Amino acid sequence: MQNQASKLKNLMNENKNKRVKDTHFIAITSGKGGVGKSTISANLANVLADNNYKVGLFDADIGLANLDVILNVRIQKNLLHVLRGECSLEDILIEVKPNLWLIPGESGDEILKYSDKNIYERFLNQVSILDELDFLIIDTGAGIGGNILHFLEMSDEVIVVTVPDPAAITDAYATIKTTSKTKENLLMVLNVVKNENEALRVFENIKKVADSNIKNPLNLELLGHLSASKEVSGSIKKRTLFTDENTSSSDELKALASKLLYRLEQKVLDNTNTRSFSGFLRKIIERF
Ligand SMILES: Nc1ncnc2c1ncn2[C@@H]1O[C@H](COP(=O)(O)OP(=O)(O)OP(=O)(O)O)[C@@H](O)[C@H]1O
Ligand SMILES: [Mg+2]
Repeated sequence: MQNQASKLKNLMNENKNKRVKDTHFIAITSGKGGVGKSTISANLANVLADNNYKVGLFDADIGLANLDVILNVRIQKNLLHVLRGECSLEDILIEVKPNLWLIPGESGDEILKYSDKNIYERFLNQVSILDELDFLIIDTGAGIGGNILHFLEMSDEVIVVTVPDPAAITDAYATIKTTSKTKENLLMVLNVVKNENEALRVFENIKKVADSNIKNPLNLELLGHLSASKEVSGSIKKRTLFTDENTSSSDELKALASKLLYRLEQKVLDNTNTRSFSGFLRKIIERF
């Protein structure tokens, strides 16, 4: 009988050959809750999908999840069911529209319970659209507890969302400080601002404090902003995506997406085995 280790190695090799595309992993996080992570994740995913990129939207915070509400879809099973072997990874995927798939996640503490099982086989043996994704956007929970740091560490780009109130800024700063231990480049999005000037002003203040207090090398950049608007809050209530309409909010989000695409074009992806969804999950699970 083959032992577990060699079995795993074989599976990993098979998976390597199966891989079709390199996926960019983008984590969207925040210090304080309720600052617009899910709103921004869903709409960024929507804009990228409209531009012909294949996008997975991974709800890593299913306990408090609302991506299903925002996207107006019903989730029946999530990653935990896959881990329990009750269904396949493809069974939990929800095709929201062409090029856009929602992947219902599960809190990492639950995943932890299953890490001793034959988890790799379940993932690696599944031929899946997920390995053809151009982007995996991860809507993390707020704060830096639990597994959130793992998600951040494993992503190519980490976007810290904040609103301009002092409590949110303090919490965003704490997230930046902690994340800077493993990530040299961090992006910020200022949400619910009055205008671009306010976003720039708040960002410059955060950057000043970060530059003088954080010892690790850190390149903090403002990716964009989203002004406070009725289009955004109204879309959440109507369960529509504001980026489907032509408004200034939509333009702001599209500008943010273009900046992200431009940034990624400049970047050569490192060739590690995290570059597919199954590889990503494997790394997450290995860290527990
Ligand atoms: N730019 C904006 N203008 C007006 N309202 C906004 C804006 N951005 C977000 N909101 C509102 O703020 C609320 C919280 O947004 P969202 O659910 O996206 O935050 P979150 O960070 O994902 O929250 P949680 O931490 O609970 O997951 C929503 O009701 C949304 O409509
Ligand atoms: Mg959310």
